[in-house]
Amino acid sequence: MKLVLMGLPGAGKGTQAERIVEKYGIPHISTGDMFRAAIKEGTELGLKAKSYMDQGALVPDEVTIGIVRERLGKDDCSKGFLLDGFPRTVPQAEALEVLLTDLDRQIDYVIYVEVDQSKLMERLTGRRICKDCGATYHMVFNPPSVEGKCDKCGGELYQRADDNAETVENRLEVNMKQTQPLLDFYSEKGYLRSINGDQDIEVVFAEIDKLLGGLIG
Ligand code: AP5
Ligand code: ZN
Repeated sequence: MKLVLMGLPGAGKGTQAERIVEKYGIPHISTGDMFRAAIKEGTELGLKAKSYMDQGALVPDEVTIGIVRERLGKDDCSKGFLLDGFPRTVPQAEALEVLLTDLDRQIDYVIYVEVDQSKLMERLTGRRICKDCGATYHMVFNPPSVEGKCDKCGGELYQRADDNAETVENRLEVNMKQTQPLLDFYSEKGYLRSINGDQDIEVVFAEIDKLLGGLIG
């Protein structure tokens, strides 16, 4: 199962990815998570990425493509993968095509989680994440049972550095520009499947699950 999950910031990519990888046992490759891990470790990649992420800008294509190339070459990706937040530009999508052709693989679906832009600010500023296991919550839409604590592991919840109103505004603007050309690119290739992301989290997952069931049918 070779999948790409697309959606504007806050559309629910990470939330759905958690469920998809749990059910289908494929590796979750989130470029955002990889950059955040590099920042935490203080690596050269982290230093490079941080200045862009803090402004809500995109990390340059050559850096992003490089880390995905390396990750997709690892053994655990041989049976499949879920790319989350990559590609985000047409040059990234073109690079992915070349990469997969070299590895003799092909994307099954590009799943676009569609949510009206007006809903995304509230989703992002209310998001909280577990510092231990990475599970995602929302203060209003998906609150943990005990305030500030993860339901799954008891870990402490925190707010992402780029989830403040000002940075969110930039992220939305930057990503909106890039999204339509990317949707056109994948629509032409016949990979694109749109899912209404403005529904209950479990309803969105049920629709994705139904689509994926057809692949292993
Ligand atoms: P990244 O980490 O990928 O962030 P993003 O694209 O901004 O997306 P998010 O993770 O913010 O949102 P999501 O769609 O996963 O939403 P979630 O499920 O958490 O990228 C961060 C930065 O890294 C970028 O700005 C860029 O600088 C850099 N970067 C990453 N990839 C790059 C690339 N390819 N090229 C260049 N730069 C790159 O949900 C959001 C909230 O809503 C949560 O609180 C959740 O609980 C809630 N929620 C989810 N679903 C629902 C629902 N159905 N109903 C109600 N609430 C919901
Ligand atoms: Zn946790």
